[in-house]
Amino acid sequence: LRPIHRLLSCPRTVAAEIKREEQSSGSVETGSEGRTPKKTFSEVQKERREQAQRTVLIHCPNKISVKKFLKYLSQHGPINNHFFYESFGLYAVVEFCQKESVTSLQNGTRTPSMGTEAAIPFRSRVFNLKTKNPSNPTSEQSRVQCSIHAPPSSKKLLELLCCAESIDDQLNTLLKELQLTEENTKLRYLTCSLIEDIAAAYFLDCTVRPFGSSVNSFGKLGCDLDMFLDLDEIGKFSANKTSGNFLMEFQVKNVPSERMATQKILSVIGECLDHFGPGCVGVQKILNARCPLVRFSHQASGFQCDLTTNNRIALKSSELLYIYGALDSRVRALVFSIRCWARAHSLTSSIPGSWITNFSLTMMVIFFLQRRSPPILPTLDSLKTLADAEDKCVIEGHNCTFVRDLNKIKPSGNTETLELLLKEFFEYFGNFAFNKNSINIRQGREQNKPESSPLHIQNPFETSLNISKNVSQSQLQKFVELARESAWILNQEDKDRPSSSRSQPWGLAALLLPSVVNSASLAKRVRKKPASERIKSLLESIKSSGPENATCTNGK
Ligand code: CTP
Ligand code: MG
Repeated sequence: LRPIHRLLSCPRTVAAEIKREEQSSGSVETGSEGRTPKKTFSEVQKERREQAQRTVLIHCPNKISVKKFLKYLSQHGPINNHFFYESFGLYAVVEFCQKESVTSLQNGTRTPSMGTEAAIPFRSRVFNLKTKNPSNPTSEQSRVQCSIHAPPSSKKLLELLCCAESIDDQLNTLLKELQLTEENTKLRYLTCSLIEDIAAAYFLDCTVRPFGSSVNSFGKLGCDLDMFLDLDEIGKFSANKTSGNFLMEFQVKNVPSERMATQKILSVIGECLDHFGPGCVGVQKILNARCPLVRFSHQASGFQCDLTTNNRIALKSSELLYIYGALDSRVRALVFSIRCWARAHSLTSSIPGSWITNFSLTMMVIFFLQRRSPPILPTLDSLKTLADAEDKCVIEGHNCTFVRDLNKIKPSGNTETLELLLKEFFEYFGNFAFNKNSINIRQGREQNKPESSPLHIQNPFETSLNISKNVSQSQLQKFVELARESAWILNQEDKDRPSSSRSQPWGLAALLLPSVVNSASLAKRVRKKPASERIKSLLESIKSSGPENATCTNGK
């Protein structure tokens, strides 16, 4: 978010032109977002998974005739869908109508003969397409249109935000630009399905499911791909099938604990990925973590993957977040903006450490929305009350029951604008008693902190766990200071500037600029008192001037 000087002179009309151009060229993806999903989380997962099983990934020459390529593949059966993208070369994702087509394609594919190296003859669904006469390009061969899988640059995002009509429009624009596209979602499910093929070589009938931000509706383009190797389904259907006095069990190896079983399984799968997995590179086995995992890069898709097993509760919390994201259109817009704001100020990081995580930030937004009057989101306890017998779910002794049918949840009567919610979020957490209170979305109210971590956010299902245990006092302090500063900037904007004279980043865009710039401009505006005192007294004055003032917009 650095080259702001170039932005300052950006006339709104030019940027609006850029935006219009993009919309007409179709590069603004709608994904499956924006609409209220009617399907339950498990219905979506099932459908996407089945789709992925009929899909293959093909590395193509840079220039090909799409028409001929599709005709060639159609020999194996009708194609339902396809798209191209770039990641270490050109790739095509091709979804057949039937699963049999994949087998047919595999049967017509050869294992390459290498020169000095030797090939491991693993038959996967990742292929290389070779042209038989590379020296004889036909006129139909041309560069193909690729779908975009990376978020827009910070500069581009700021330009778009500056051209928005209002702060509400800015938040919605940010969501639209950063959310996962339909193609990216498909690629995520396909990658899980490809990893499942490898794991299935050992554990027939296992399932690899995406979880976390890839599926909880809060994923941003470029986010990691969390995968869950589900071994519980194995043998589920064969049990109780036989009649008579006998019961058959598999003879298995026993290990002293569940944790050790997890470590052993992941260790072997990690080896398989490393040795046999096409395009699986940089495999790291992180088996001593609280939740053991195998981390690797999937080169063909470009995803950084974290594979875990025995982690069913995380899948359930992904489902819960999906429900919260779908209940009210303001939720995702606010979460995306807060996550983006946190990233812009280095409050979050891709490196593990004492930073606050996106998952924690999402919980904070949900909690804040539960605290509005009237509430925008229901508490987890009330979602539990709405559950019926089929929703009942207990995992390792933890009650994970909540209603899964979105249609059974009453929409909120709250009509607050995103602009107001953004300001109030910063004020709320800028003044939150983190030293004594815990954030708890189950009850939707502050609780006394059960332990002394600087930031305490209760895990919604494993209630004795703190999901932000890693956050240090200094990182929390930084969050609080930036929240206060951002609240002040937003309130100040209303007073300072009429909407027609926006010659520099405003609203959400101003909040994403590096804090040094903000500090400098703050210092210019109010010189005398020290920063903390200044912000505190400004917040006081905002509060005492009442809610009407706080809702005041730029007139749009
Ligand atoms: N999780 C959890 N407790 C934690 C951390 C993570 O239960 N302390 C679970 C959550 O369900 C979370 C998932 O693991 O969604 C994946 O974790 P992570 O990748 O850190 O978060 P994401 O929600 O996927 O967000 P990001 O986009 O930053 O990857
Ligand atoms: Mg993740």
